[in-house]
Amino acid sequence: MPYYVTTPIYYVNAAPHLGHAYTTIAADVLARHMRQRGEEVFFLTGTDEHGEPIAQAAEREGLTPQELVDRIAPRFQALMPELEVSNDFFIRTSDPQHEAKVQEILQRVYDAGHVYAGTYEGWYCPRCADFKTESEIAEGNTCPIHGIPLEWHEEDNWFFRLSAFQVPLERLYAERPDFVLPGVRYNEAVSFIRQGLDDVSLTRARLRWGVPVPWDENQVFYVWFDALLNYVTALSYARDGVDLTSEFWPARYHLIGKDILKFHCVYWPALLMAAGYEVPHRLFVHGYLLSEGEKMSKSLGNVLDPFEVMDKFGPDALRFYCLREVTFGQDGSVSTTGFEARYETELANDFGNLASRTIAMIGRYRDGTIPDAPVDPQLEPDFAGLGETVAARLDDADVTGALDEIWQRVRRLNRYVEERAPWQLAKDEARAGDLDVALRSLAEGLRVVTVLLHAYMPSTAERLLAALGRPALQLTTARYGAQPGGQPVEAIEPLFPKR
Ligand code: MSP
Repeated sequence: MPYYVTTPIYYVNAAPHLGHAYTTIAADVLARHMRQRGEEVFFLTGTDEHGEPIAQAAEREGLTPQELVDRIAPRFQALMPELEVSNDFFIRTSDPQHEAKVQEILQRVYDAGHVYAGTYEGWYCPRCADFKTESEIAEGNTCPIHGIPLEWHEEDNWFFRLSAFQVPLERLYAERPDFVLPGVRYNEAVSFIRQGLDDVSLTRARLRWGVPVPWDENQVFYVWFDALLNYVTALSYARDGVDLTSEFWPARYHLIGKDILKFHCVYWPALLMAAGYEVPHRLFVHGYLLSEGEKMSKSLGNVLDPFEVMDKFGPDALRFYCLREVTFGQDGSVSTTGFEARYETELANDFGNLASRTIAMIGRYRDGTIPDAPVDPQLEPDFAGLGETVAARLDDADVTGALDEIWQRVRRLNRYVEERAPWQLAKDEARAGDLDVALRSLAEGLRVVTVLLHAYMPSTAERLLAALGRPALQLTTARYGAQPGGQPVEAIEPLFPKR
């Protein structure tokens, strides 16, 4: 089954920060891993360019909204190759093809009777671009996410009949207990639905920066409907002259942060049903990266700059750190000191040293050729079924769990070096056969973990596999003993040098 994975599309009212990089890196791990499995993959990310926050940010800077988005969107686009993110397309919601498709789909929703005219009044957060329900209003009539005062808004709008989807949504969740992962987020979505769904406003009258409503020239679509639809519109124009929708829709995974659960887990499946599309297979809702105990965000100003981290340590170290430090699905703190500690103990010591020692010992004791000896059966139980285990974890988008499985084997190989002490074996000619087995097993174990790490640290893995003379990346090769010995290796510079 083809594999379609998406990230949220990011607002361009501020520069990219580590929070944006985070979801994108996780999605990239899934995409790369599925390619290693030989699946047809389509990986989408992009920018959300309409709506009030953008219009306001442009005004503050004395620019037109279009000028502002044309200035910031390229910075998000440029972040992707820097992070080694292998997205197949980058959607911008100001793309004319996206806008036309949004109009076509929402016209269909209108024609099917899911839209009516009404007046909206309520408490509104201009940063969320969202009206707040009773339970979403924080103390002092403020936004619980941004902490700013809410504004009372009244306007004539078109409404989407979300309430009509109460029963279909309840049925969907009852039939598919893994529709939203992790379980705590599934429960959150279900309880939101059970509270009873109100209709939601689909359009905005006061704003010009958006996709025009085809049946009412005085309104534009509410940015969230325009934005959600990116997941289907992109497939219709990402490749010239080809519509990929029937191949890749429904998406296998939408990855999102917990801040946008309601839109994705409630509005989105309802809108898809109204428009006659299948709902996605699954959504995975991750937590926040915290900095000094608070959510990293532009408005709070506690931003850890991914560009700075990458300049000094490279993208692979950043990718590894984010997914290793914070269990995907939960909140967790990230910091420069935490980063440096993991860089040192896990990347430089556990993995980097294992690679350098293994290659150096093959150089010193066997003239740079992996001995053509059998692999040590002692390591077999440690590696049995590893590729399958990692694949199963990643089928559940458990990117931290899969990485931990791999890392346990990295540590096992380090213990094996100490247990076998090849430098001792080398002193005794009678133990030449044991030394052959030890070196072959280390090289083979190292190769297996590196194939599996490719999704997480692509360029490091490719460098090391090339040095081991076995560049194959397919998941089927991630089996201990799958590749024969007798292969020359090349010395390489430390993978994670001291900084
Ligand atoms: N434009 C909307 C999403 C529309 S999707 C159809 C939006 N954009 S955003 O720029 O605010 O980005 C939100 C997403 O960025 C979050 O859902 C999450 O994926 C990611 N993150 C932003 N800050 C984050 C953290 N501090 N920690 C983890 N992820 C964060 O909402």
